[in-house]
Amino acid sequence: MMNVFDFGKKKAAGEKITMITCYDYTSARIVDKTGIDCLLVGDSLAMTMHGFESTLPATVDMMALATAAVARGAKDKFIVADLPFLSYRKSLSDNMDAALKLMQAGAHALKLEGAEGNTEFVRHLVDSGVPVMGHLGLTPQSVNVLGGYRVQGGTDAAAERLMEDAKALQDAGCFALVLECVPADLAARISQELTIATIGIGAGADTDGQVLVFQDLLGLNLDFRPKFVKKFAEGAALFTDAIEQYNKDVKTGEFPHAEHSFGPRRVAKTARRA
Ligand code: KIV
Repeated sequence: MMNVFDFGKKKAAGEKITMITCYDYTSARIVDKTGIDCLLVGDSLAMTMHGFESTLPATVDMMALATAAVARGAKDKFIVADLPFLSYRKSLSDNMDAALKLMQAGAHALKLEGAEGNTEFVRHLVDSGVPVMGHLGLTPQSVNVLGGYRVQGGTDAAAERLMEDAKALQDAGCFALVLECVPADLAARISQELTIATIGIGAGADTDGQVLVFQDLLGLNLDFRPKFVKKFAEGAALFTDAIEQYNKDVKTGEFPHAEHSFGPRRVAKTARRA
């Protein structure tokens, strides 16, 4: 299993880090048997698992339930859990309660979005024994401030700001940083300047690792196909065919067969008195 130091070691050795989102026990059991380095219980679960239109409705309780399920299923993976919308922008005591819930649910590290106003809390978490992954670029929890889901860091000023934020999170003690929807050349430059590992999504090939959403990479998502997603399977078609086959077989009497049924009831012999 990876630990926080392995992220930096892999970066130094030029070995790519792989991360995939995971939100439930069954998927965690499957991913646990793969070579994937790290799991993210992302607040994207609000969209992928609950059908909301953004990540804003994710709550600490939702995240804790999913984190606990993933931790039960993936005993050999380093698990990062997202602190959801506003859960780390309250009083220190409330912020720490949110962090405590997710760590006690089985996370090995927490992720939060943005640098401005977060660096003190990052330092406090790290000093309290909680490893923190940062997240910059397109930060979906700020979709309403960003005016939509769009590439970030496009102007010189925005690129400079991103670089400064990345360094601030590193200085605050983050062990790694997600860069989402950032021009590839800028993500490469940030990755070179930081000593901590960068993990990209829609940030080109030169980050130290990549992360994708489980449903996107398996082709389970029917109506979301951004440019940066590569479908590694036609999951939706595979599932649809299997479910249609089951539907047909039941209706035509092809299923269940004798091999799927239990044998005749055995009648217990009772001793008869002569
Ligand atoms: O919640 C999430 O899935 C994420 C990834 C897109 C990095 O934060």
